[in-house]
Amino acid sequence: MIKDEYYTLSNGVLIPKIGFGTWQVASGEECYNSVLAAINAGYKSIDTAYAYDNEVSVGKAIKDSGVKREELFITTKLPSDIKNYDDTIKYFNESLKNLGLDYLDLYLIHAPWPWSNVGLDCTEGNIEAYKAMIDLYKMGKIRSIGVSNFLESDVNSLIEATGFTPHVNQMRYFIGNTQEHLYNYFNKHNILIEAYSPLGTGGILNNEIINKLALKYKVTPAQLAIRYCLEKGTRPLPKSVHEERILANLAVDFKISNSDLKILDKLEVDPSLKRKLRS
Ligand code: A2P
Repeated sequence: MIKDEYYTLSNGVLIPKIGFGTWQVASGEECYNSVLAAINAGYKSIDTAYAYDNEVSVGKAIKDSGVKREELFITTKLPSDIKNYDDTIKYFNESLKNLGLDYLDLYLIHAPWPWSNVGLDCTEGNIEAYKAMIDLYKMGKIRSIGVSNFLESDVNSLIEATGFTPHVNQMRYFIGNTQEHLYNYFNKHNILIEAYSPLGTGGILNNEIINKLALKYKVTPAQLAIRYCLEKGTRPLPKSVHEERILANLAVDFKISNSDLKILDKLEVDPSLKRKLRS
């Protein structure tokens, strides 16, 4: 079953094939209840970020779940405006404290530029932050490291400067927004792609073709969208604050045929969904 399946990162670390996303999940009761429901449903991996402002609630739910730490895979992210060595260490320690953990499974640079200045060239700052992450990795504080929202050139700069290839890249990826060029680049470098917004933040669920195919497979449009990410070898991070959806989004143990995958590969979705980035 998918909830018990793992990908293997380039450093040999096992990572659950599906993770629970917590972007836009409000800190406090909403986040606590959702994460607890997710862990109880069988998700073994939670994705958060310092910038989501919900790490404390995520940590509390992890603790109260009673599931052993080593059975869970926890990701958080360095704030997008932190672009130097010392502050990377500082924010990493702050995230650990928020989460109530003593190590992370995955730590990501949230974006190549601050959200307040999208597109700004922060190459040097990203290299500094990345060097700090490599040091934390070598100290055993993080089991794997990576980036999010990076383009090829951003990743190349990190690899050229450090000789260290990130284990993971997290990007906005869903049916109709597969960013083929980036997808091929990351696969070529054996960097696992995490698919954030696998439902297009809910925006692709009314698509006619997706609904037609979902009916064919006797699944919901959300399940089809999540399964699509898995069929493409990416790691979906669906988010929901509703228990029945949290459960349903994990019930994706079916196959999409090659001919239907081809239809989905070519599907055009509302172009406005593609441009948005997730903070
Ligand atoms: P909610 O949290 O109220 O359930 P993404 O994971 O692509 O970011 O999408 C998240 C959005 O999709 C949220 O608005 C979430 O709403 C909604 N969503 C999550 N799971 C489902 C589902 N199974 N069916 C319909 N909408 C869903």
